[in-house]
Amino acid sequence: MRREFLLGAVLALVAVALVASLFPPILWSMVVLGPLLVLGFQDFFQTKHTIRRNFPLIGRLRYLFEAIRPEINQYFIESNMDGVPFSREERSVVYQRAKHELDTLPFGTQLDLYEPGYEWVNHSLAPTHVNRDDLRITLGGPDCKHPYNASLLNISAMSYGALSGNAILALSGAAKDGDFAHNTGEGGISPYHLEPGGDLIWQIGTGYFGCRTPDGSFCEKTFREQAMHPHVKMIEIKLSQGAKPGHGGILPAAKVTKEIAGIRNVPMGHVVISPPAHTAFSTPIEMMDFIAKLRELSEGKPVGFKLCVGKRREFLALCKAMEATGITPDFIAVDGGEGGTGAAPLEFSNRIGSPGIEALIFVHNALVGFSVRDRIRVMSSGKITTGYHIIKRLALGADIIYSARAMMMALGCIQALRCNTNTCPTGITTHDPNLVAGLVVKDKRARVASFHRETLASVGDMLGAMGLKGSDELRPWHIMRRISETEVRHYGELFEYVDDGCLLKEDTLPATFARACNAATAQSFRHAESQTVT
Ligand SMILES: Cc1cc2nc3c(=O)[nH]c(=O)nc-3n(C[C@H](O)[C@H](O)[C@H](O)COP(=O)(O)O)c2cc1C
Repeated sequence: MRREFLLGAVLALVAVALVASLFPPILWSMVVLGPLLVLGFQDFFQTKHTIRRNFPLIGRLRYLFEAIRPEINQYFIESNMDGVPFSREERSVVYQRAKHELDTLPFGTQLDLYEPGYEWVNHSLAPTHVNRDDLRITLGGPDCKHPYNASLLNISAMSYGALSGNAILALSGAAKDGDFAHNTGEGGISPYHLEPGGDLIWQIGTGYFGCRTPDGSFCEKTFREQAMHPHVKMIEIKLSQGAKPGHGGILPAAKVTKEIAGIRNVPMGHVVISPPAHTAFSTPIEMMDFIAKLRELSEGKPVGFKLCVGKRREFLALCKAMEATGITPDFIAVDGGEGGTGAAPLEFSNRIGSPGIEALIFVHNALVGFSVRDRIRVMSSGKITTGYHIIKRLALGADIIYSARAMMMALGCIQALRCNTNTCPTGITTHDPNLVAGLVVKDKRARVASFHRETLASVGDMLGAMGLKGSDELRPWHIMRRISETEVRHYGELFEYVDDGCLLKEDTLPATFARACNAATAQSFRHAESQTVT
């Protein structure tokens, strides 16, 4: 195409020159032709992009189409059940509930009920009525002085920084209006979190933003100051998240503005590193001591931790540390490998970390097995958008739900998949003031609150149809799954659920847990054998 472009350019110029000698106004065509030729010759001579060099001018269309590929897919190609990570059907129901529009389905289900993997719950001939406002639960174990009465559905961690100020304002405002909690994310508590006055779960990651010393270690004094804020209802230590477990983070110097530096307690204009691991503790016992310390410094607020489950042995080591110290977290948030992020390496998002269902059932079993389940609330997250998703997680072992991306969709996210480029067209994951201005806080605050309210209403309706009085009556056998064209199992049959206290004694240790449990030690996250050898 290089030759053709050159020939075309010369011919066009000659043609314009010839016609201009008879009809001078034709020179106006150079207003369009001129810039096109300049762009074309730029492509022709540049040496970095093969496609542009080989196909001057038209090669640029590739970049345009690449840029709008998610939109083309959504508008012209995908069916109701297509679309990743969230199908059009899932996104639509979030938008409808957020706008409080008609959210019913016409004509019948579009799902194939006979396809392996199809799931459902069985209804009862004696339905009940469950009020959405009763779908609340109290968090706070025996050592907590200020238990928190939470909604069943809350906003999962997303920092100011990953999200715009307007997005945080709308989320926190919705949390205030709908009486649910908003997790700050690991970027610290910003003025946008505080202004609306909603309940906050303050997340503390490895960077200890908002509670760090100049060298990046944990700072008791600043932690206490922030933790005592009346809007902070609970504190969450972040160990990992599903989309990038075991991966730290870097905030480039250019992004460390005066405002961010103030919020995060970091020097302005310097790179800020969140290491993969915490420095305040390095063993399971030290982690329990840290939990106790945070509870003490916050004068008894609920303290828990968030993780994506990796090595089972390490989680069992935490349980052994609970047993050894008598210290338990007030809650554990279990994020699935299917979880979202602003930006993560592909391998980490696709291939590291246990998926949400297996992780949740494992954590529930481990806590039951160590006889501490009644002191600890389990939160679950990972692609939860509808009432059914909530019912399923609660039935399989969760007490309470976190959602991040469904909340983003309620804010107006169109799944443009540009969270990592600062060009989010909906003003949610960008700091470009022109794009952020499009997100009108008052309107979107009402939408998020409406999504929360309507989704819980659907949970209430489903529980009622199942003949249950509340979410605490949900059990694994309530969730049915087709495993072949002719076979169906419930989750109580598909997964093992262990007996209370069975992991505490050798003679009751289930075979499926024996290896990992014997390799776990409260003194270290490493394999027990490697402890004795070294
Ligand atoms: C834009 C964005 C930012 C996030 N930031 C954090 C964070 O600061 N800390 C954290 O623990 N998880 C973070 N997450 C993960 C979510 O809190 C959540 O665990 C995960 O997305 C699963 O929930 P979802 O499937 O409902 O989105 C972030 C997710 C997104 C989409």
